[in-house]
Amino acid sequence: MPILARYALEFFSHSADQTRRVGVRLGSLLQKGMVVCLEGDLGAGKTTLTDGIAQGFGSPDRVSSPTYVILNEYRHPNGSQVLHADAYRLPGNNPFDMEMLDLDHKLENGILVVEWAERLKNYLPKEHMWVNLNYLGVDQRHLIFTPRGKAYEAVAKKLQQSLFGA
Ligand SMILES: Nc1ncnc2c1ncn2[C@@H]1O[C@H](COP(=O)(O)OP(=O)(O)OP(=O)(O)O)[C@@H](O)[C@H]1O
Ligand SMILES: [Mg+2]
Repeated sequence: MPILARYALEFFSHSADQTRRVGVRLGSLLQKGMVVCLEGDLGAGKTTLTDGIAQGFGSPDRVSSPTYVILNEYRHPNGSQVLHADAYRLPGNNPFDMEMLDLDHKLENGILVVEWAERLKNYLPKEHMWVNLNYLGVDQRHLIFTPRGKAYEAVAKKLQQSLFGA
């Protein structure tokens, strides 16, 4: 069993801004319809990374935490959009009607980033970029990107080149 999954990528961030910039690189590689799943404790940097991803995908808006809503939608002037979901406050036992969110339809025009994605695992597409964020110290974070599916493996390879130049 390898330590990291095939094509997985790890990054040690030393500041919030660096995490945001990693997000920008990732966001610039995403195509409409793609999904990024974020898993990490409170304050691990999920929203910070999302802000970068949205910027890299071309969003003019700053992303903030959608703590009291399940889904924020950032629409671009060009018609594409960034969907930002936060499952933190999802009721644990209540079956949640994901179809109400109409994600499949909305994804045709944009990307989806999900915080606390492990809580929505059963509802999310099987192919995605899974990101684990781990707190190491006040400003230190360990990020692991695990692609699931060929299209996401291609993204991971390009991200590797973009971040490390190799
Ligand atoms: N290397 C780093 N990467 C990301 N955030 C960092 C880093 N170092 C310090 N921080 C700080 O950690 C906090 C991360 O907050 P953020 O809202 O992004 O986390 P989160 O995972 O979305 O939390 P929540 O679970 O509450 O939604 C910010 O205050 C940020 O400035
Ligand atoms: Mg957050």
